[in-house]
Amino acid sequence: MDQGLVEIVRSSFLSHFGKKPTLIWSPGRINIIGEHTDYNQGFVMPAAIDRGIVMAISQAQNGRGQWIATDVKESYSPDSSPSPTPKRSGWKAYLLGILSELGKKGIQPGPVDVVFSGNIPPGAGLSSSAALENAFVFGLNEIYKLGLSPMEMVHISHAAEQDYVGVRCGIMDPYASMFGQAGKAIFLDCRSLVSEMIPVHLEDCQWILLDTGVQHSLADSAYNQRREVCEAIAARLEVSSLREIDLKQLVKIRSELPEADYQKAFFVLEENGRVLKAREALKNADLLKLGELMYESHEGLSKLYEVSCEELDFLVDLARESDGVLGARMMGADSGAVA
Ligand code: GLA
Repeated sequence: MDQGLVEIVRSSFLSHFGKKPTLIWSPGRINIIGEHTDYNQGFVMPAAIDRGIVMAISQAQNGRGQWIATDVKESYSPDSSPSPTPKRSGWKAYLLGILSELGKKGIQPGPVDVVFSGNIPPGAGLSSSAALENAFVFGLNEIYKLGLSPMEMVHISHAAEQDYVGVRCGIMDPYASMFGQAGKAIFLDCRSLVSEMIPVHLEDCQWILLDTGVQHSLADSAYNQRREVCEAIAARLEVSSLREIDLKQLVKIRSELPEADYQKAFFVLEENGRVLKAREALKNADLLKLGELMYESHEGLSKLYEVSCEELDFLVDLARESDGVLGARMMGADSGAVA
């Protein structure tokens, strides 16, 4: 957590509203391995990071309250009930989405004054949106004593992103942001939502995140379309998700599918297998093996799932040729970052 950021948000709140807020720290996440598997009910292995969102929040004394996003220097006073119009964009959509989801549950928290700021580069695949949604629902829960459990808040953030913002993402991001612990990776089964915290011993290695600078916007990307392909194949096999099938079943229908669709499902099955192997590698501190699995994951994301880009492939190739790099892959939904 960045104490400097906390102080900036705290003092900005004080100068705007003249009162002391409740302060929330909500981290972003990396994903070590298990990409595009969460919405297929598969396995993922993310970890919370030391970059995130700091939110100052308190009950508004009167009116509708005021929300201030210091990074973009914008301020907003929400309507009393959020518009149900889906596919909104920008930071307000994430907060309105949370109010909308709470409303669906019959929960109407009172108005709030909010100031927030973050140090996650947006669009770099580090889940700034989930961190913001979690911060807001967590803050509302605290100051209005809504009695929501952390898991309920994860579901609310997830639903806000899916139903209000319009990105049909999986549960990994809000889960990792809510439950992540320092020094640990989270092995999460996205079907049962059972997770295991795995201590990460990197010896003298470290994770390095590179931002390609290639911007992505999930709502505009082919993300939802990838998901539809996976769901259509599961439906054809009369199962609820790709998690329910094995390679044999998939191969059986290969000739009935466009080859590109077959390859996407094939990637998901393989990636799930890789997460299981990566869990063992991490537990055994076998970083060479983990690195190999990361390279394999990237190859699949690039060639089979087709979510990489030239810049990312270039960086991964460069990593492969560099002494001392054990593994590299793209991270997140598409383009963005390489780890
Ligand atoms: C985005 C989504 C996640 C996940 C990843 C790809 O980060 O929000 O749910 O699907 O892409 O693994």
